[in-house]
Amino acid sequence: PVLVVDYGAQYAQLIARRVREASVYSEIVPHTMPVQDILAKDPAAIILSGGPSSVYEEGAPATDPTLFEAGVPVLGICYGFQSMARALGGKVARTGTREYGGTVVKVEDDGELLAGSPTQQTVWMSHGDSVQEAPEGFDVLATSDGSPVAAFEDRRRHLYGMQWHPEVKHSVLGQEALERFLYDGAGLAPEWTPGNVIAEQVEAIRATVGSDRVICGLSGGVDSSVAAALVQKAVGDQLTCVFVDHGLLRAGEAEQVEQDFVAATGVNLKVVDASQTFLDALKGVTDPETKRKIIGREFIRAFEKAAREIVAESGDGEGEVKYLVQGTLYPDVVESGGGEGAANIKSHHNVGGLPDDLQFELIEPLRTLFKDEVRAVGLELGVPEAIVWRQPFPGPGLGIRIIGEVTAERLEVLRAADAVAREELTKAGLDRDIWQCPVVLLADVRSVGVQGDGRTYGHPIVLRPVSSEDAMTADWSRLPYEVLATISNRITNTVPEVNRVVLDVTSKPPGTIEWE
Ligand code: XMP
Repeated sequence: PVLVVDYGAQYAQLIARRVREASVYSEIVPHTMPVQDILAKDPAAIILSGGPSSVYEEGAPATDPTLFEAGVPVLGICYGFQSMARALGGKVARTGTREYGGTVVKVEDDGELLAGSPTQQTVWMSHGDSVQEAPEGFDVLATSDGSPVAAFEDRRRHLYGMQWHPEVKHSVLGQEALERFLYDGAGLAPEWTPGNVIAEQVEAIRATVGSDRVICGLSGGVDSSVAAALVQKAVGDQLTCVFVDHGLLRAGEAEQVEQDFVAATGVNLKVVDASQTFLDALKGVTDPETKRKIIGREFIRAFEKAAREIVAESGDGEGEVKYLVQGTLYPDVVESGGGEGAANIKSHHNVGGLPDDLQFELIEPLRTLFKDEVRAVGLELGVPEAIVWRQPFPGPGLGIRIIGEVTAERLEVLRAADAVAREELTKAGLDRDIWQCPVVLLADVRSVGVQGDGRTYGHPIVLRPVSSEDAMTADWSRLPYEVLATISNRITNTVPEVNRVVLDVTSKPPGTIEWE
């Protein structure tokens, strides 16, 4: 892989995505990882990301110079560039000229990194310190008002660096520079395509599973459907999909799975009604992480029960189900604290929410992919578009959209409000414009309203429409007022328990997409 060393801030994610957009596989590692561990991953190239520190600050992450002696091509970006310059004996100083935002750089020597680029270009900068002198052996490629050395390279050693952020779209030729580094500097080929991902995974799944039985937790969403299709391609009828109705589903969900996915793929399906079990387990629970852990655990218990039944129902009653397929994605792993060096923001039900005594071995063929990549794989596999383009819906379902205790009555209220919002968004043709729109019930909050001649004392519903590229960051969607007005009117007219509809206008960060 190409390893992106994360020096903090949000840039590493974006760099990894841009590398993948160039059809080269990439992963993120923390800057605290020792050089020998980084090299043990056999990187094809390394990119040092930007970060919030100044190389002068006490405790600022330094780059171990031995990283540059391993013969692995390295690109330093922003902080990574300065850190690289410093580690190799160049001079970094605080000039007092901060460059922030769109900045013009002059390209004096296009070299390998900037090959073919015009002599002036607009790039995205964000720095206070700057490189004053390039280390020995390096050619200076570009300069700007605040940066005597804005880009450099040592072609002989395959070391490159730039002060600006090529991963940000405001750097007009940013993607080109990244590609020059990957294709020319590191000699990599654009081979990481959906077709190759599928071929690789199919082979890996066959090697792992052999002739054993496999089940897949199917929710009807994009991730589990694509994971199931991939495993079905690999091992065919050894796979049974298990759809757990946990009672936290939206209206019409179970029917949709049968209609869209099973009809198209002919996969073996087992439907389990576990709604009462989940409700009992969630009784009296209000803490979000506790809810998530309970739901994660109950999912597994439901899969175990289904697995025993599948074996019993099979002709010979022999064998056991050894493997559980899950549609876990890269952001789920990172946000559950599973990405190396990442903080645990919340326990996604299929990662941090798993019980310790798990009996299955997990197969997670999408664990390294972002959502848009999963969609591309799904389309390549022939998964119906109605599923591939579905908006995300979290495994814990409405359980984490009722703020407060989850009860059957509250679920009814939320389900009714959610159905209205979804219907109106679809009617307005907005489904592909927004990433998703959680509808949240503030079950412990009440406010006074008036309806007809009477006073009401009901609950608020929150609409949380967001736009996003990969759910790691998001912005609130500016939906047309008329659409919001229709949703609000219809919900308050048809759901008697709700007398107020509010709009969440928070980006992520600081708010996460779901409320719990
Ligand atoms: P947050 O709330 O972390 O959500 O900003 C990011 C994306 O992940 C979805 N989500 C989940 N998906 N299991 C899932 O399968 C979970 O436990 C889970 N929690 C959040 C959320 O809907 C959003 O798309």
